[in-house]
Amino acid sequence: MHIAFVASECVPFSKTGGLADVVGALPRALAAAGHEISVYIPRYRLTRISEERTVVQSITVPFDDRYRFCSILSGAGYPGVRFFFVDYPPFFDRDGLYGTAAGDFPDNAERFALFCRAVLEASKILGVPDIFHCHDWESALLPILLRTQYVEDPAFLNTGLVFTIHNMGYQGLFPPEILPLLMLPWDLFTIAKMEYFGNVNFLKGALAYADMVTTVSRKYAQEIQTSEFGFGLDGVLKERAQTVTGILNGVDYEEWNPETDKYIAAHYSANDLTGKQECKRDLLAAAGLNADTNFPVIGIVSRFAAQKGFDLIGQIVDRLALEDILLIVLGSGDKLYEEMFLRLARRVPGKVSVRVAYDNAFAHKIEAGADMFLMPSRYEPSGLSQLYSLKYGTVPIVRATGGLDDTIDPWDPRTKKGTGFKFQEYTGEALLRAIHQATQLYRDQDSWQKLMRNGMAKDFSWRVSAREYVRAYERVRQLHAQPILV
Ligand code: ADP
Ligand code: GLC
Repeated sequence: MHIAFVASECVPFSKTGGLADVVGALPRALAAAGHEISVYIPRYRLTRISEERTVVQSITVPFDDRYRFCSILSGAGYPGVRFFFVDYPPFFDRDGLYGTAAGDFPDNAERFALFCRAVLEASKILGVPDIFHCHDWESALLPILLRTQYVEDPAFLNTGLVFTIHNMGYQGLFPPEILPLLMLPWDLFTIAKMEYFGNVNFLKGALAYADMVTTVSRKYAQEIQTSEFGFGLDGVLKERAQTVTGILNGVDYEEWNPETDKYIAAHYSANDLTGKQECKRDLLAAAGLNADTNFPVIGIVSRFAAQKGFDLIGQIVDRLALEDILLIVLGSGDKLYEEMFLRLARRVPGKVSVRVAYDNAFAHKIEAGADMFLMPSRYEPSGLSQLYSLKYGTVPIVRATGGLDDTIDPWDPRTKKGTGFKFQEYTGEALLRAIHQATQLYRDQDSWQKLMRNGMAKDFSWRVSAREYVRAYERVRQLHAQPILV
């Protein structure tokens, strides 16, 4: 099968979060299973393309007042996977993918509408796929266009659509005037399509038009059908429940593996954990903390966003300051959380280190050098960092939501089974209790090492999830074995 991935980020070309990891790694697993993959992403200022070539010089994208002309570049791929970049400097040659510290770019609707229209046109030249697999709101216009303005295009009569929700918190909401600006018909502005409380909702439109909707864990697939997690679209998802499935994200163990990781001070494995001690010393030195310590190190690597639950840390700052722990934080995003963590670091110097940055090498050092990894998320569609932590013997402390709940089993002192610590209630108290459980067990190093090894033995490679995606693609392809009647 030929599957075209359409997304706003992809490792190693652009990344703000786990979406990029998924779009970077899943094609590799699908190609290994014999499929042909094209990956379409925008070319941003930071995107570095090796073996860059212009494969389509000019694609015309209509807007209400003018045409815009973008080109398509290709870069080095590998067997079974081709990468294509939509190049339109006025929209994408900027610092940041979606905005600046001051907020989202005001023309995001235009930017990603151009991207989606360009991908459709480019695919007619570079190869129409059996399936377009779109990810999140930035690619949501593609299913909408394909089933409306492009519905009579003979090139796409057999083309299927899979749409993956990585996060319900980002929907692409714009005022109604955006429709004429993007040359979209007012027909779309109905409650069954893109209209949402007087605005235009890109994600909602994709949910209406995709043949199949997936999300990134089984638990999240259920959660988003409730008002607590559906961000207003739970009703739409419930209506489509038959075609909504959860497929857990996998890990690229070529990138995230303590036996081979190129960013860490020493390699180690479940059979020989000595290297992890060296990684801890190296991490403490890099974080400017005293390396001579028996305290456990808790690591955090995260976007700073309300989703991630750091307000719970805000609730327990005073008591956290008294604990015999060290905390190393790497993240960036919402100023509120940046300032909260920086205040905590000033309050307990020598025990807390905070780096406000996006730094991949340091993220790897934390995964390897910390003893525990904290994700107190309010909601978490899948989460990848906890899966990386398991592989690095860095015990996850998580809230029982979404993919965190699906992937972390609580430690059971009786059977000595389990891989981490989990709390349910969204309160600072519950978080503190989970931290206490972890620090207590840490004092019993025999049990602790058993717990570490339980996690390290888990296999979350993409192989299994890739098979589930193939099943989804096949189902959709069967739907289109007969061309859609116009
Ligand atoms: P989300 O996609 O919601 O941000 P995930 O757990 O799925 O959460 O993925 C986060 C990914 O982004 C991981 O690969 C993590 O290492 C990376 N990451 C997040 N923040 C940073 C940062 N400040 N510096 C480097 N990598 C980061
Ligand atoms: C989103 C989610 C995260 C998930 C990632 C990749 O950003 O917040 O939980 O792992 O997408 O699917």
